[in-house]
Amino acid sequence: MDYKVADIGLAEQGELNISWAISHMPVLESIRKRFQDEKPLKNTTIGASLHCTKETAALIKTLEAGGAKIALAGSNPLTTQDDAVAALAKAGTNVYAWRGQTKEEYYWCINKVLDHKPMITIDDGCDLVSTIHSERTELIPHVKAGSEETTTGVIRLKAMADSGALKYPMIAVNDTPTKNMFDNRYGSGQSTIDGIIRATGGMLLAGKNFVMSGYGWCGQGIAKRAEGMGCNVIVTEVDPVRALEAAMEGYRVMRLEDAACIGDLFVTSTGCKHVIDESHYGLMKSGAVLANSGHFNVEINIPALEGLSTVKTRIRPDVDEYTLRDGRKLYLLSEGRLVNLAAADGSASEVMDMSFANHALVAEWLIDVDLEVGVHNVPESIDKMIATLKLDAMGFGLDTLTDEQKKYLSSWREGTT
Ligand SMILES: NC(=O)c1ccc[n+]([C@@H]2O[C@H](COP(=O)([O-])OP(=O)(O)OC[C@H]3O[C@@H](n4cnc5c(N)ncnc54)[C@H](O)[C@@H]3O)[C@@H](O)[C@H]2O)c1
Repeated sequence: MDYKVADIGLAEQGELNISWAISHMPVLESIRKRFQDEKPLKNTTIGASLHCTKETAALIKTLEAGGAKIALAGSNPLTTQDDAVAALAKAGTNVYAWRGQTKEEYYWCINKVLDHKPMITIDDGCDLVSTIHSERTELIPHVKAGSEETTTGVIRLKAMADSGALKYPMIAVNDTPTKNMFDNRYGSGQSTIDGIIRATGGMLLAGKNFVMSGYGWCGQGIAKRAEGMGCNVIVTEVDPVRALEAAMEGYRVMRLEDAACIGDLFVTSTGCKHVIDESHYGLMKSGAVLANSGHFNVEINIPALEGLSTVKTRIRPDVDEYTLRDGRKLYLLSEGRLVNLAAADGSASEVMDMSFANHALVAEWLIDVDLEVGVHNVPESIDKMIATLKLDAMGFGLDTLTDEQKKYLSSWREGTT
């Protein structure tokens, strides 16, 4: 057992928080109990790079119950919950993560995970997989397959596959309905608002012009929650279908350069780069607040903001005030990193229950299958099983098709009567 965490003395609080999370993750817990008996992952080393939250600890405990040996690092320098990783370390997991890392420390942790020679990788953002493929290529023959948690990671994996760089099969957990429809939409929707409120010390949202850049799964969830808090939501998009969807949902849709001068609060969740750029800062009102909920801290062009500023002052742990040359002040939350994980707890246990049930069941499935190199979907049977278990845990009923209905739906003969 090997670890590097901020403070092992936080383990007791971490155990309490992990138990709290597990009590809201009934699907993962049922998988953990089965894994305990069946040990489907015995003799399997799993290397993971994930936001190290209390919910991630619940996943790690599930995989360990299945017999896996785990090595875990964070997937972002600012999103580790120090108490959760302390509890994991105390319980014997190989874990290398703490909140507030430099880039060098972050990749040191990734490399410590890779020193364990994983046979399965679990990634959130593709930093583990890209490090294996660029710097630790000697490990490729040891890896059977892996799974990826987020949209940005899947985009990177598909780019790797298209260019022939990807050398082992990867499962796009992000793309399965029990993940993106719930974690991205309801999870990041709620927790992004939570992060903004916590970071700012309770800034009033009612009446604010809330500019949402990106109206994908996350953007839809964030916009809906902002609307519920009384914001006037404005959406900026590059995809005409999603822009139209936002317009028909009742939001104003415009170009960011037009929204820049009226927004009070700007939130990005696109998976893209420099969405808020130098030209936009010049148009913004003094006092505007900027936050990102997309995977990387490149959605808001921070170097450009620094270049335009004369003074940068840390007002609160997650608020930096940038004073521009003309005296206007712009406020950046959580250094442009995912505000829901850096300033709040990330997506709720109830939705991470489904995301992490996917990783656990995919890891079990990967042991027995031989897939071609490429990016694969989660089998539909796993997705449906998770949805069924979740509905059951929530106490909701589900109808079943009668034989007559099954026959009707599989036939073309019955038409207008
Ligand atoms: N904060 C979290 O907890 C969390 C959870 C899941 C995913 N994510 C991350 O959030 C980001 C978005 O994920 P998603 O699942 O919503 O992706 P998505 O593909 O469903 O949506 C992204 C949207 O952004 C739009 N977009 C791209 N570039 C743009 C630009 N320059 N200006 C305006 N719109 C632009 C796209 O057209 C698309 O509609 C990704 O980086 C993903 O990894 C974060």
